[in-house]
Amino acid sequence: GVEALGGSLAIGASDTDGALIDLDTCQQNSSYSTILQSSIQNLRILSSTTPKPQFIITPLNESHVQAAVICSRQHGFQIRVRSGGHDYEGLSSVSDIPFIIVDMSSLRSVDVNVDDQTAWVQSGAAIGELYYRIAEKSRKLGFPAGVCDTIGVGGHFSGGGYGFLTRKYGLASDNIIDARIIDVNGKILNRESMGEDLFWAIRGAGAAGFGIILSWKIKLVPVPDVVTVFILNRPIEEGASKLVYRWQHIADKLNEDLFVRITISSDIANKTINAAFESLYLGGVDELLQLMEQSFPELGLKKNDCTQMSWIESIIYLYNLQSDKGLEVLLEKNQRKSFYKAKSDYVKEPISEIVLEGIWERFRKVEVPVMILTPNGGKMKEISEQETPYPHREGNIYEIQYLAYWDGGDAAANENINWIKELYSYMTPHVSKSPRAAYANYRDLDLGTNENCHANCPEAMDWGHKYFKSNFERLVQVKTKVDPTNFFRHEQSIPPLTI
Ligand code: FDA
Repeated sequence: GVEALGGSLAIGASDTDGALIDLDTCQQNSSYSTILQSSIQNLRILSSTTPKPQFIITPLNESHVQAAVICSRQHGFQIRVRSGGHDYEGLSSVSDIPFIIVDMSSLRSVDVNVDDQTAWVQSGAAIGELYYRIAEKSRKLGFPAGVCDTIGVGGHFSGGGYGFLTRKYGLASDNIIDARIIDVNGKILNRESMGEDLFWAIRGAGAAGFGIILSWKIKLVPVPDVVTVFILNRPIEEGASKLVYRWQHIADKLNEDLFVRITISSDIANKTINAAFESLYLGGVDELLQLMEQSFPELGLKKNDCTQMSWIESIIYLYNLQSDKGLEVLLEKNQRKSFYKAKSDYVKEPISEIVLEGIWERFRKVEVPVMILTPNGGKMKEISEQETPYPHREGNIYEIQYLAYWDGGDAAANENINWIKELYSYMTPHVSKSPRAAYANYRDLDLGTNENCHANCPEAMDWGHKYFKSNFERLVQVKTKVDPTNFFRHEQSIPPLTI
């Protein structure tokens, strides 16, 4: 068993190496708060009343994770697993019932194999680090994942993971070829020993309801020596509504080497709303200009709006990182923490200009509203809805992420949360229906939780279908088989059939 002994955790389970983990992370310890707060990305989660873990375990090897599972079961603690800490609702760091955090941030090795174009990446690695390690070995390989260097691969890959390469290669979870996971009995399983059902579930449904991911084996993808990027700012006040409207007709149909998303934000100082067209093209500038002229001439893209660079440099450019620090900026662990609330939608029919004007009216009511429109199509529509738990494939033109940021304080929190709820309600007639789909990695507890609830209760079916459509039923079957007593759980984990 495992016992907490003052500042240490003694591990003596038969299938572990009998290690002693230094528990610089029990509540009495001076570094407890620093470690607890280290990677909580949404400051909304951090308050004096937020429930705190009994311990934080930062495993240094796989057997420590096994021991944490065995120990927690023996002592009746729930486990919250944390990799990058970017969960929108903080579910990797907070729970209402007695819990421990297993913080994977020390397990972050990335082992790239250029010959077979694969890599094993431990779940505590951040995606910036993964991109860096791939580029270190080869400038001809990349990986399709998210647009923020500090996201952890543990949570991100298990809930989907999209970014500028998604139209060409699909989601991060579409490119996983093996995984090592610790199950409810503390056993380490790989793809072969876990079986295809569990391997399917952990590639899109969030792994935290099934076990603890130790590492992923991923398939790397080819990237050209030269890519072309642009970020074009077009103010709504100067007619950008027409461009946003028009973009909806071409965004998912463009050549799959071309990705153009729109980030809409407001500039408080000038009281303007800006639509930033952000693009990555997997090729040179001349071909890009031709493609844009054919498909989206209204944008008026010019050669000097574009920059040619390597794929790895494009990550730094498109993520707005400090380029004078060189590629090493991707290894920095500085998170841009903030107070925020987010929601998501999928759009199947272009939204009219009148409805867009209604969104801009709402944008003028709060300090820092943001909307990111991410195109679908390309590879995304070639993959069937059942291939992985992530079902939002063919028939979706784009995904919307709504965000509201504030500086702290209850009044601002209430104002912004009410604002985003009203905007979400305004959008109801214009987005996907039955179910109104949502992206599991943009976790939103307003969609419902599974508190005191098994799989057949209406609440779980409701949010479950929004995130996973009819894959929800298969996920419940898998959960019931691998973790029938619901040991691995959180407010939106897949519930077993009965509890
Ligand atoms: P965190 O550690 O908080 O974990 C998230 C969830 O996964 C929790 O339920 C946690 O318990 C579980 N988990 C974590 N590690 C696990 C493990 N080893 N085994 C089992 N379960 C584990 N998404 C996207 O697709 N594209 C994007 O571009 C972005 N961009 C982006 C920017 C910013 C600033 C934020 C905050 C978030 C995003 N996201 C995103 C969303 C992101 O994909 C999502 O929040 C991920 O779940 C984050 O994974 P982390 O490991 O960082 O989070």
